[in-house]
Amino acid sequence: MKRVLFVCLGNICRSPTAEGVFWHAVEEAGLNRHIIVDSCGVGNWHVGKAPDTRAQVAASRRGIDIGHLRARQLSAGDFLEFDYVLGMDRDNLKAMQALQPSNSRAHVGLFLEFADLPEAEVPDPYYGGDEGFEHVLDLIEAASVGLIAHLRNDGLRNDRL
Ligand code: 4NP
Repeated sequence: MKRVLFVCLGNICRSPTAEGVFWHAVEEAGLNRHIIVDSCGVGNWHVGKAPDTRAQVAASRRGIDIGHLRARQLSAGDFLEFDYVLGMDRDNLKAMQALQPSNSRAHVGLFLEFADLPEAEVPDPYYGGDEGFEHVLDLIEAASVGLIAHLRNDGLRNDRL
């Protein structure tokens, strides 16, 4: 079993999108009994809220429903519960690293490490237009394919897949 946690700033745009898109890819790969997925935010402003309507609409256009997700804040305990804690941008990553306990063995990094793309970060779409949400989805879809391949090759070898 591998546990993956996606992290952004507010947990209402990028990381719930990553949770929904990656979970869809996990199900399509038939790995839903081997991978657990969650998302959260570095900040606490939107705790308890559903994803931004623009993120919900953009995801639903690609057949993915994220309307049931609710925002929560990242905690130190997450670094003990999850194997992969993946941020959307470098600011997220800095905040994550500051919270990671010394006894955590989680892989803490950027989600786009797993995509074969020139971009390193998923840009914050909150203050922009709809095209920003489409770009977020393109980046997240590419990284999801890469992360599934990575987990198949390395992380899930002991699960005898
Ligand atoms: P997210 O987007 O980090 O992708 O969920 C944001 C959502 C809210 C805010 C910033 C980014 N905000 O400043 O409230």
